[in-house]
Amino acid sequence: MDTNNDVLILAIESSCDETAAAVVKNGREVLSNIIFSQIDLHTIYGGVVPEIASRKHIEKINQVIEEALNKAGVTLDDITAVAVTYGSGLVGALLVGVSAAKAISFATGKPLIGVHHIEGHISANFIENKNLEPPFVCLVVSGGHTHLVIVRNYGEYEILGYTRDDAAGEAFDKVARAIGLGYPGGPKIDKLSKEGNADAIKFPRAKVDSSEYDFSFSGLKSAVLNYLNSCEMKNIEVNTADVAASFQKAVIDVLVEHSLAAVRQCGFTKFAIAGGVASNSTLRAVFEQECKKRHIEFFHPSPILCTDNAAMIGAAGYYEYIKGVRSGYDLNAVPNLRLGER
Ligand code: KG4
Ligand code: ZN
Repeated sequence: MDTNNDVLILAIESSCDETAAAVVKNGREVLSNIIFSQIDLHTIYGGVVPEIASRKHIEKINQVIEEALNKAGVTLDDITAVAVTYGSGLVGALLVGVSAAKAISFATGKPLIGVHHIEGHISANFIENKNLEPPFVCLVVSGGHTHLVIVRNYGEYEILGYTRDDAAGEAFDKVARAIGLGYPGGPKIDKLSKEGNADAIKFPRAKVDSSEYDFSFSGLKSAVLNYLNSCEMKNIEVNTADVAASFQKAVIDVLVEHSLAAVRQCGFTKFAIAGGVASNSTLRAVFEQECKKRHIEFFHPSPILCTDNAAMIGAAGYYEYIKGVRSGYDLNAVPNLRLGER
């Protein structure tokens, strides 16, 4: 394969329950994106079991990397650098990807680049939106994070707000479990909501007094649980579709209000969403509509690039690479790594 001056990043992601590897050309062209999802293994426990995730990553990582190279039609010789998620995430899970990346980098002499998982989620937007360039505001909503971020430049972030308790995806998963939908709850609530009335039950829209852009979802989760308990005590049959739709609307209302206030106050004209919850069909439709009304350009990745994948790490890794960022062989997994920190 003639790669000329192209920068080919081999990217590895293993921060939670997806073992993933990808080859990305010049930050925006995905040559391969292999994802082994462990969801089936964790479903019976109602959530991700860290120890099981680590063991499965070890079992799958080499196979997934090999498949990514084969599918892209390249060998390790063609690769320019190896990028890997080193935080945030589950420490044992992260360690598998980090160790694999270090081994490949050491064996081939190709540079190693540690990437922040959230930076990866944000960068997923660059893959299908070839014209998207910073600055813009991005809402990152996943199972572990709810962050409202200004993307000042590639790799330069300013956090405007974040969740004080549960992440948005975590709230979806917990409410789904409470109404008997199982794990992972987000996609199931998304689907069931379409059969329900989003105005049937008035759930609270939480505000955090001290910060206009911070989020809090634990009160909403408790309100749903209280509602379910009170129905049980009064022997009232619960309409789970109405609960799902009303809960989902309460989450979306807050996400939309905070995000678009941030875009307006920062004076930007571009807004993007990222992370697993960003694949929610109603969330996307509401943002589409509200951004249009306000003449804000709205960007979002395809659902497969919203949930955990390595192509997004390849996109982020590319911009770090061209800025000259390199990691040493002392790169370690950092479970609570903050965005913008190294
Ligand atoms: O980004 P992601 O794959 O992993 C983390 O970094 O956390 O996000 C997973 C989260 C889970 O909480 C899942 O329930 C949620 O994203 N999710 C959704 C949807 N698809 C995935 N939430 C709402 N609607 C969806 N369609
Ligand atoms: Zn994620």
